[in-house]
Amino acid sequence: MQEKKDMYILGIESSCDETSASIVKNGTEEIATVISSQIDIHKDYGGVVPEIASRHHVKNITIVLEECLERANMTMDEIDAIAITYGPGLIGSLLIGLEAAKTLAWLYKKPLIPVHHIAGHIYANSLVRPFKFPLLALVVSGGHTELIEMIDHYKFQKLGGTLDDAIGECYDKVARVIGLEYPGGPKLDKLAQTGKVTYKLPIPLHDDSYNFSFSGLKSAVINLAHNEEQRGKELNKEDLATSFQTVAVESVVSKTKKAIQDKNIKYLIVAGGVAANQGLRKAIEELGKEMNVTVSIPPMKYCTDNATMIAAAGYYAYLDGRVADLTLNSTSSAVLK
Ligand code: KG4
Ligand code: ZN
Repeated sequence: MQEKKDMYILGIESSCDETSASIVKNGTEEIATVISSQIDIHKDYGGVVPEIASRHHVKNITIVLEECLERANMTMDEIDAIAITYGPGLIGSLLIGLEAAKTLAWLYKKPLIPVHHIAGHIYANSLVRPFKFPLLALVVSGGHTELIEMIDHYKFQKLGGTLDDAIGECYDKVARVIGLEYPGGPKLDKLAQTGKVTYKLPIPLHDDSYNFSFSGLKSAVINLAHNEEQRGKELNKEDLATSFQTVAVESVVSKTKKAIQDKNIKYLIVAGGVAANQGLRKAIEELGKEMNVTVSIPPMKYCTDNATMIAAAGYYAYLDGRVADLTLNSTSSAVLK
């Protein structure tokens, strides 16, 4: 029998404010990754400015790609396919990565694999341990809060999602109210380790669905801050951070628990930038023990946007026959399917 050939995939990610390239072997082994982050640039504006993000992707993409190949000590001839985030994300940013991927695919005659950004976040976990099905993926990031069931590789079934803001977006906005610099999520998380639950905040969408809602919670924090100010009372930032984190985490964990029960899930994956949250990680580990479910949370470096996860997802997308031609376009609101 002929031995199966190893497959080296070059992943490219540029959906928001990170320009990244990575080479992954067989969807599981990271060979080299380069990430150029624009956080320091957007910090001054309190959030990502799309036009500025696009311009920096243009400036960085070639450098990032060249450095990735150099770190891997590989040439384009040794790459078997190119995986690209086609959406969702900022359209101007997405297009820069897509054009680079299409150019390389055309020039070196390599298959072009379209990868949904959320599939990337989910497959970040395949760099840690093999998937077991049926699995449940809790995707929590700056743009998404979703529960996705998978019965096999690349078979996604969305159970529910946020009806308004994403959890990361909510973290960043609440952090701003507290006076923390963008992106405030990680700083708010740190502060939440030091306070007590003293402020009463509403548990969002406390119902029987798998959906989430974070805009009400965000408004409640803003109103609370205004009311305290009007009364001349100083806001206890640590306690507000802890009170907020407790409610935000509880909201996500309760819906995850319901999905585990209803769908008889034995394997739980947490993905996306907010998977780095200490409060959430602890609560999910406890839930895993309580429900007898194996929990997989990727290390921090795979939680936030990176091309390693795109190259990993690209491998399974390729096995599923998902190859695009050069008419592939970016889609800012792409649906995971
Ligand atoms: O996945 P990601 O890098 O980008 C998107 O696809 O959205 O996630 C970024 C989001 C930001 O909102 C950031 O504040 C949040 O993840 N985040 C955190 C933590 N680390 C990153 N939120 C809460 N706690 C954290 N430790
Ligand atoms: Zn992301």
